[in-house]
Formats: sequence, C-alpha cells, structure tokens
Amino acid sequence: MAQVLKASEENLKRAAEVIRKGGLVAFPTETVYGLGGDAFNPDAVARIFEVKERPTFDPIIVHIADFGDIKRLCREIDERAKILAEKFWPGPLTMVLKKSKEVPDIVTAGLDTVAVRMPSHPVARKLIEYSKTPIAAPSANLFGKLSPTTAEHVNEQLGERIDMIIDGGRCPVGVESTVIDLSVDPPAILRPGGTPAEEIERVIGKVSFIHRSDEPKSPGQLKKHYSPRTPLRIIRGEMDVGHGEKAGLLAFKRPDDETARKFEKIEVLSSSDDLNEALRQAAQNLFSALHRLDHAGLDIIYAEQVPEIGLGRAIMDRLRKAEGMG
Ligand code: TXA
Ligand code: MG
Repeated sequence: MAQVLKASEENLKRAAEVIRKGGLVAFPTETVYGLGGDAFNPDAVARIFEVKERPTFDPIIVHIADFGDIKRLCREIDERAKILAEKFWPGPLTMVLKKSKEVPDIVTAGLDTVAVRMPSHPVARKLIEYSKTPIAAPSANLFGKLSPTTAEHVNEQLGERIDMIIDGGRCPVGVESTVIDLSVDPPAILRPGGTPAEEIERVIGKVSFIHRSDEPKSPGQLKKHYSPRTPLRIIRGEMDVGHGEKAGLLAFKRPDDETARKFEKIEVLSSSDDLNEALRQAAQNLFSALHRLDHAGLDIIYAEQVPEIGLGRAIMDRLRKAEGMG
C-alpha cells in the first residue's frame, strides 16, 4: 500500500525525492487529487498510464509552479495565453499550447500541443517547486471512474499501485480545471471546469465549445467518464422511483419531505440561496457525494439538474458523463 502522509514540509521534501527518482506521488490540487510524475521522465509518465489503466491516446496535463517554466514546455506563448495566465493563474485553468521538442511524446499522446496548468493549491505548488521539474498529473483515479477529492478516495482506487499519497484534506474547488485549446481560433473549451467560461470570455472574447465527438480531441470528452459503479440517471421532468428500487438522490437543494421519502439515501449539494454560491458549494461537494452514494448499495442514483451557468456547466458535464450520455 502507498504511504499516506500529511502535507508537512518534511513529507513534501520526501515526496519531491520520489518524483525526482521517477516515482509517482498523489497530491492535492485545488480541483481534484492528481497522480504526479516527472514530466520530463518518459518512464515515469508511462507508469502513470499503466497505474490508471488509461489509454495512451489520452494526453496528460503538465503542472508548473512558475510562469517561467512554460518556456521549456511550449514553443509559442501568444498574447491570449499571457492574458489568461495573468488573470487565472495560479488556478483551475489548463491551456493547450504548441509544445516544445523537449516535452516527451508520451505526455502529449503524440499531439503537437501540450496542456499546461499552474495550480493554486499550496501543497501542489510546493511539491512542484521542491521536485525542481514540471509534474505531469492526471486525476488520481482509475480511468473513467469517479475523480478523487480526498486522500481516501485516492487510496481506495490506487493505493496498492503507487508510491506515496500526500494528504492535504479535501479539494476546495472539487471539479477539474477548465481545459481551453489556444492552438485554434477562436479558442475552444475542451472541458468545462473550475474556471467559468463566462469569466474567460470576459477577458479574451468569444470562445467555442467543443461538444461530444466520436474522435475526442480531449478525452475528457469521452461519453462515459467520471462514472460511479451504480447506474446514474439525470432527472428530466417528472420522475418516479420504480417499485422496490433502492434509489439514491443527488439533490442540488434540500428536497421537500414528500420527495425525500422516495429515497434510501440523499446527498444535498448546496445550502445557499445565492445561485453562484450554491453552484460553488455543489461543485465542491459533487464527487464526495457521488462516492458516498456509490458506496450505499443502491440500485440507482437519480441526479437533479443544476442551472447551466458558471460552475453549473462543469457540474452538468460530469453528471452527463456519469450517466453515459456525454
Ligand atoms: O484539474 C485538473 O485538470 C486535474 C488536476 C490533477 O490538475 N487534472 C486532470 O487531468 O483532470 P486529467 O488527465 O484527468 O484530464 C486532463 C484532460 C483530459 O481530458 C485530456 O484529454 C486533456 O486534459 N488534455 C491533456 N492534454 C491535452 C492536449 N494536448 N490537447 C487536448 N486535450 C488535452
Ligand atoms: Mg480525469
């Protein structure tokens, strides 16, 4: 089993040593836990794919702690990238840019672009700094399964396969970063995430949204992804729990008593009356709530829709993928 260590200075230095030697460390970011390895070590990156059982056509995000590091990774950093970095880094935004020769092909799945992100979580930042190398890190879950927002989630799925898990508590944003492709014009949002598209458009103008396609440019676009083992269905219009069906409810707001009686287990994602605050709470709680529902021995999970603005886009994207409808 992996060692689960508190995020002390000493343990972060040990973790950095593991990364430098080509090992794998799971660590907290503000979005979800990442499974990190030295981005310039192709063997370490190959192990990331193996451990996650991830198809090698699905490229991995490279994490940096200092804007200067981007020069080693990318051959073109245009004005829009600079503006976005200035406004949203460090934070939950990943930019896809033309890659430099130095980035190993295995990181980018042979693409001519590399995805770069500067996380804001202090533990992630220190780990990158101490490792003295950019860290390639997908979410620390098995491919296609629920993303991890606590060290326990990581341990459950990957504990037996990796060297170390740094426990930094639960991830404050709770959904993955927004991925934006700046190698095309207009820029394209490949995955909605922790940085709302509306805020991005406010600084660089119109972006396009790539929706599901058979040949995903970002495999975050694969239809079935972020899935619990229990079947999940989004509630559209009237819903009835089947007779004798053990059903769970993923509710955006606290349900009334009559609704609540139909379910074995209910997870309420938000409590605020302010929509933006409610969406922030819902994003933060989403994966933990899904993990709990998935462990409750239910036949089915019904999920309420949330308004598709701001963080609501990322939430609905994850729910549709959990449902398998992309
Ligand atoms: O918040 C996050 O982004 C987390 C934390 C750990 O940083 N990471 C994460 O990584 O969600 P992952 O591997 O689960 O998702 C990365 C997404 C995938 O959909 C991948 O296809 C896309 O980014 N991606 C990576 N490199 C790309 C590239 N060169 N072009 C297009 N999409 C790319
Ligand atoms: Mg992932």
